[in-house]
Amino acid sequence: MTIDIAIVPVAGVGTRLLPSTKSQPKEMLPVGRKPVVQYVVEELALSGIKRLLFITGTGKQSIEDHFDTDAELTRFLRKTGREEQLAELEFEHKDLEYFYTRQREQLGLGHAVLCARPLVGKEPVVVALGDSIIGIHAKSNIVARMVDEFERTSADVVVAFEEVSREDVVHYGIAKPKGAAGEIFKLEDLIEKPAVHEAPSNLAVAARYVFSPEIFKHLEQTTPGKGGEIQLTDAIRSMLAQGARGVGMRLAPSERRFDIGNFESYFRAFAEFAINDPIYGSNFRAHIKTLLEEQS
Ligand code: UTP
Repeated sequence: MTIDIAIVPVAGVGTRLLPSTKSQPKEMLPVGRKPVVQYVVEELALSGIKRLLFITGTGKQSIEDHFDTDAELTRFLRKTGREEQLAELEFEHKDLEYFYTRQREQLGLGHAVLCARPLVGKEPVVVALGDSIIGIHAKSNIVARMVDEFERTSADVVVAFEEVSREDVVHYGIAKPKGAAGEIFKLEDLIEKPAVHEAPSNLAVAARYVFSPEIFKHLEQTTPGKGGEIQLTDAIRSMLAQGARGVGMRLAPSERRFDIGNFESYFRAFAEFAINDPIYGSNFRAHIKTLLEEQS
């Protein structure tokens, strides 16, 4: 795999998770034992990403602090013999480079990606949303598979998709495949939040993308839509409409997307990660079972 850089947008306000997100980023909310964005970084590292460009914003400082080394904390843990806790900070020393720039106005996901243009505007790039985990405990190499396909087929855009129930298509960007949609398929168009009877498939955009640098030209030309936001989906549609080669890739069944953007899916993700925790999982599972029995 030759693409080693990923843009990670984390500048959104997270209004759907208020009050939890009033003074902390939603990307720092814990799911099980780690904050969301740590899973995202670990997943990207697993796929061979070496450079991470975060698009941050007001109130997102703790994300930078999280990935920085904390010499004082390390000294303290070492001095007090807390080797186990020290091991929890190993992620600080991963072979990764971190870059940060700010989205200075809340103009949507498309605008956040456009903020990366001066830094990566001439090379193909991965985009991974900072509020979505792929796979339980982020054990997924979907990005590596997407990059391989991007290179193998000389595509301009590769988008990850997840199958959702027919009634749920109204909440997502939905794929319009060209022909039958196998594990990998030709992407003809994307339809944003279609009515159930108008949806061309039940494949929903799943927070991971690979783009040729062409995307930046289209983002720049995209006019703001709902709420004055520049939508990434609109720029992808514009690329596809002008003949760009689009590829869709389904997540494997083991690679469910955990969206930490609203409380319902956040609660589900937390419960599932906690139940499957290698240390605390079995006790937690027993506790939940007792709780449920008491309530029935
Ligand atoms: P969302 O679409 O969930 O938007 O972001 P949001 O503003 O964070 O949340 P709500 O709707 O107010 O609850 C998806 C991803 O895109 C980033 C977010 O940080 C999140 O990782 N994003 C969104 C930006 O970086 N900038 C934006 O202007 C919007």
